[in-house]
Amino acid sequence: MSKFMEWVDARFPATKMWEDHLSKYYAPKNFNFFYFFGSLALLVLVNQIVTGVWLTMSYTPSAEEAFASVEYIMRDVEYGWILRYMHSTGASAFFVVVYLHMFRGLLYGSYQKPRELVWIFGMLIYLMLMAEAFMGYLLPWGQMSYWGAQVIISLFGAIPVIGADLTQWIRGDYLISGITLNRFFALHVVALPIVILGLVVLHILALHEVGSNNPDGVDIKKKKDENGIPLDGIAFHPYYTVKDIVGVVVFLFVFCFVIFFFPEMGGYFLEKPNFEAANPFKTPAHIAPVWYFTPFYAILRAVPDKLLGVIAMGAAIAVLFVLPWLDRSPVKSMRYKGWMSKIWLLIFCVSFVILGVLGVLAPTPGRTLLSQVCTFLYFAYFILMPFYTKLEKTKPVPERVTG
Ligand code: HEM
Repeated sequence: MSKFMEWVDARFPATKMWEDHLSKYYAPKNFNFFYFFGSLALLVLVNQIVTGVWLTMSYTPSAEEAFASVEYIMRDVEYGWILRYMHSTGASAFFVVVYLHMFRGLLYGSYQKPRELVWIFGMLIYLMLMAEAFMGYLLPWGQMSYWGAQVIISLFGAIPVIGADLTQWIRGDYLISGITLNRFFALHVVALPIVILGLVVLHILALHEVGSNNPDGVDIKKKKDENGIPLDGIAFHPYYTVKDIVGVVVFLFVFCFVIFFFPEMGGYFLEKPNFEAANPFKTPAHIAPVWYFTPFYAILRAVPDKLLGVIAMGAAIAVLFVLPWLDRSPVKSMRYKGWMSKIWLLIFCVSFVILGVLGVLAPTPGRTLLSQVCTFLYFAYFILMPFYTKLEKTKPVPERVTG
């Protein structure tokens, strides 16, 4: 075996890569619950790709046959139902995991110097993931697939001058049709997965270049032993590979429970109108996107003007990209930041959740007002950040991690 590895290593840096990224990658020893979600995101990504490939084997991307082919997968293809539920539940699981992964970033200042690029690559993944989920949702060609896509694509129509042409260019037709379905299929199964995979590689390379942050926000590279190994670092493999397996097992319990007992999750993972085939002549009474888009949908609806609503929705995502430059705190972790940072993070999270709930519900004057307040608070968290992070009194950061 060692002779074989010598042969390989003389031609390909296999051992070097293994050491650089696993057995000699020293991660802080104080990783907590929130550090499970990076490896879980990888797991869900693999799940989506594998189940997606198998679904593609039996799915037909045409307006005439798409809906029926999904029913065929559910009823006739052997184990087709589990492949489909793994994929549809996987989509929601992806966003649960990624939202918790991003929350960890906010909590421990993981986006701060020198991890700005880790964060930016993460944000690009998030953007691509949203595009991937949106296009995937058209494929079953149900009522919500059709009308959800109709609502989102028509948003581009609000852009002055080019709006009308742009929506037609996206659809490839005067209305959403089999042509739109074909291109969304191509992007969903080939183009975007490649982009996402490439971005994940860049994300991890950027992280391993600077090293992981941790719940204390202490730079473990400052204190090293005589061999140059950080005193507060432990080898990723075997220590964190084993620890991550614990997260994987717990995650799989929850994931299987949902697949076997609540695959539709009361209409949140698979919406009820989507059990009816797409009908361009029948608009559903209430159109709402899947839960992971609803906070942004609520921001869109909170603004009375369509163009300004689209701009607000875009800005809500764009502002996250510049987060590393908005936080001017001398400390990273929320543990050592002042009370203003803590309160604003709480306000931000509560507003995001309320917006998510409002985005599912039909609008009423009261709900619109609440969504306007929450949209204001969502943006205030970012816009005021340079001020409260600079003004507040921080606690002293310990020299070494605190267990
Ligand atoms: C397919 C989606 C993603 C995958 C597979 C992924 C994977 C990973 C992995 C394996 C790690 C190292 C382990 C860990 O710290 O948990 C990590 C760290 C990180 N990720 Fe992601 N990630 C994804 C999406 C995102 C997104 C959307 C963001 C934020 C916009 C993000 C921001 C970060 C940051 C800031 C770190 C460093 C955290 C620290 O050291 O404290 N990631 N990611």
